[in-house]
Order: sequence, then C-alpha cells, then structure tokens
Amino acid sequence: MPLDIVVGTQWGDEGKGRFVDLLAAEADYVARFNGGDNAGHTVHVGPQTFKLQLIPSGIVQPHTIGVIGNGVVINPTILLTEIQTLIDSGIQISPKRLHLSFAAHLITPAHLALDRAQEAARGNAKIGTTLRGIGPAYTSKVSRQGLRLVDMLNMERFKLAVEDHVKNINRQLTKLYQTEPLDAPRVSDDLLQNAIQIAPYISDVSILLTKALRQGCRVLAEGAQGTLLDLDHGTYPFVTSSTPTAAGALIGLGLGLGYEERVIGVTKAFQTRVGSGPFPTELEGDLAQRLRGTGEHPWDEFGTITGRPRRVGWLDLVLLRYAIRINGVTELALTKLDILSGFEKILICTGYRNNEHEITNLPYGPSDLSGFEPIYEELPGWQEDIRTARHWENLPPNARAYILRIEELIGIQVRLVSVGPEREQVVEII
Ligand code: GDP
Ligand code: IMO
Ligand code: MG
Repeated sequence: MPLDIVVGTQWGDEGKGRFVDLLAAEADYVARFNGGDNAGHTVHVGPQTFKLQLIPSGIVQPHTIGVIGNGVVINPTILLTEIQTLIDSGIQISPKRLHLSFAAHLITPAHLALDRAQEAARGNAKIGTTLRGIGPAYTSKVSRQGLRLVDMLNMERFKLAVEDHVKNINRQLTKLYQTEPLDAPRVSDDLLQNAIQIAPYISDVSILLTKALRQGCRVLAEGAQGTLLDLDHGTYPFVTSSTPTAAGALIGLGLGLGYEERVIGVTKAFQTRVGSGPFPTELEGDLAQRLRGTGEHPWDEFGTITGRPRRVGWLDLVLLRYAIRINGVTELALTKLDILSGFEKILICTGYRNNEHEITNLPYGPSDLSGFEPIYEELPGWQEDIRTARHWENLPPNARAYILRIEELIGIQVRLVSVGPEREQVVEII
C-alpha cells in the first residue's frame, strides 16, 4: 500500500524538507502529521529558496495536494502568512490544493505567552523551546481544553470558547507566573478574522487520504522535528510535545494500519541539536566550528526560524540504531555528506562506555545519557569536493567506505545521499 513516511532520526533539522521535496515528485498527496511552526524546512530549487513551517514541503512540486493533519498544532496567523508567502513565490495554494484537518488544534497568543512565561520560570533548567506556543497548545489538547479548527466554523460559539480559553490561561499567567494577562476580546476578534480566511480549507483529511490510498494514489507523510525530540521516545524532558516518529503519521493523519510501505529515516552525516539536553558526541572548538560553519552559507548550522547556533558533534550510531527501531525505518537518506569533505579523519560513535561496561544499545532509552562516554571508530576522510557527484561511482572511495561502514553498523541500507542543498544534488544508491 502506497504510504511513505519521512521521519527525522536525530534532533530535527536533518534535511527532511529537501528529501520530502524530492520524493514528492512521485507522490499525489503530501501530508504533515505533527508539530507546528517550531519546524523550519528548507527547500532549494534553482534560484528559489522556500522555508516551510506548517505546509508540507512537497507543496513545492506543482502536481501535489497538500494536507495538514490533526496531529499538527496551527498558529493561524503563521499559516496565513505562509500561504501568502508561497503564493507570492509562485506556488499555487487554494482550498482545492490544501486541506486542513478539522481536528487540528489551534495555537493562540495565550499559548505563546504561556510558553514564554514557562521557559523564563525554568531558569537554568530551560528546555530551549522555540517559544512558538507548542507545549502549551498540546497541553490544552491533552487536558481537553483546546480549540480546534472545526470550532472556527461556528463563529458565535468560537468567540465564547476563545474568551474562556484566554481567561483560563490569564489566570495561569497572572497567578503562577506574575506576568501580564491578555485582552480576551481582542484575541477573539483577531481569531475570528483568521477564521473567515481559514474556514474554506477545513476538511476531513482522514476521509480524503484513506480514499486516495484505496484508489492507489501515493501519499507521502512528512514528519517534523526528529525521533530524539519525540514526547515519548526522545531525550525527555528535553523534547517537543508531539509524536514525530512514524506511528505519529497514522495518528496524526487519521489513517488505519497497513498502508505504509517505506519509512525513510533522514539522517545528517553528523549530529546537531538546537536547545538543551543530552548530546554524548558533542564537539567544541575548531572541529565544532568547521561542522557548524560561520553562518555565511544558508546551510550552516544556525536555526532556520530562530537563527540560534546549533550544537554539533559526530554521528552517533547508538542513537541512530535506536531511531531505526522506534520508527521501523526501512531505508536511510543521508544528508550533508559534502560538509565532511576536507576532514583528515571522521569519527563515528559505535557504542558507549559506562563504568567499564561497553554497550551498543540503550537500557532505558536516551533520556539519561549522563555517564555514557562515546566509543569512537576512526575512519579516513576525503579531500575531494563531492558536490557534483550524482552516482555512487562519483564518490571518493573513503566517502563510499564511510557510507558502507554506517550501513554495516546499523543493518539497513542508505538509499539516498545528498551532497548539497539543491534538489539535484543527490546520489541515489541502487
Ligand atoms: P529539516 O528541518 O529537517 O527540513 O532541515 P532544515 O531545512 O532545518 O535544515 C537543513 C539545512 O541543510 C537546510 O539549510 C538545507 O538547505 C541544508 N541541506 C540539506 N541537505 C544538504 C546537503 O546535502 N548539503 C548541504 N550543504 N546542505 C544541505
Ligand atoms: P524541524 O522540523 C530542531 C526543539 C527546540 C527545543 C525542543 C522543544 O525543523 O526539524 P518546542 O518549541 O517544540 O517546544 O521546543 O525542540 N525543536 C527543534 N529542533 N528542529 C525542529 O524542527 C525543532 N522543533 C523543535 O529547539 O529544543
Ligand atoms: Mg528544520
């Protein structure tokens, strides 16, 4: 059955957007299933650069139909701006081409204020969230106090529900966090304006996608964030509040079991993380600087949306094997191999040492990695510029050896390798 799921296997920013764009060439529907505008997915096509936050990256391919599932939390102002920006860049967006699940929850200004207040109150223990209201919006959902897109279809009730919601969060803002309350009627007026523009896009995406799959159409599900940021399976509590792992695609789009065919795990050729939390292979100093870049290139390791410098380190195969298991990854898409060109030697973490014991799997997931020292294997680097490579044979022997060694240590195949940010800068390994 033709459902392909793209997930990040690390802490996000693996380069999912560029591979979703590429794979969307073969898809009829492209569907985002989790997260919100905490995501930043970059797609380069010729002279154009698209930075997508809520709309699936596959929308850049002109023949696709875009879907945003119930698992996503939507800030309506961001969504409407994104729609307009895409239209201005020549991408067609209309209610015929973009479908929003009626069951997706809203992010409101009250959620944004709460995210800021909660992060400030955490002090040194802060998560380093994107301050986009993600945690508070999912909290409203789970505590059964959220606002859903379907609520926007009944203006009178929606107005009352928004005012109740703001008053409720105002109590937390003022009493718990000693911050300013929001003006409830103003928030509801703004959201009512948004509702008029968003209403035509609201539909039942479960029906839409299930019908499409039964008719043999290809659906590409796009995960935001990454496995190690998953609420259940990530480096808790330094995680996001959604399910970026493959099973999240089914829940977050309203699909039953059994349609899935491929689970494509997007993995950067080294490790990066933005925000707080464990990172066993983290590097400092010159090596870190080389992996991160200075910010002069668009692909240097600074947050797409927030501009924060990303923490960087060597590829961690203990965590990658874990991600492959949690997602049922069937094949890997490796990104940014070009960034490793010019290193004399490249390290990969094959296991951890803990109190004289050597382990290759995590006993209790990745949350508490304190005391785990990486065990590294050293591989020879390559000096050649690989950005023009398009076939396996074009890659230098040491780059091929790097990929083959990863495959050997994780037990699945690397099917795609990217050697630059452009759509065509890809080597498909057959
Ligand atoms: P996502 O959140 O997983 O979609 O990834 P981001 O878009 O946040 O970050 C990936 C960054 O790396 C973007 O700037 C991409 O254009 C860039 N990128 C992706 N693949 C490659 C690659 O193979 N080489 C280089 N140099 N840049 C890449
Ligand atoms: P894409 O889809 C990288 C991180 C934040 C923070 C933690 C919680 O572009 O890969 P949140 O705002 O979600 O409550 O923050 O998760 N984070 C991401 N890091 N890429 C992302 O998305 C991220 N989305 C959230 O930095 O550490
Ligand atoms: Mg990103």
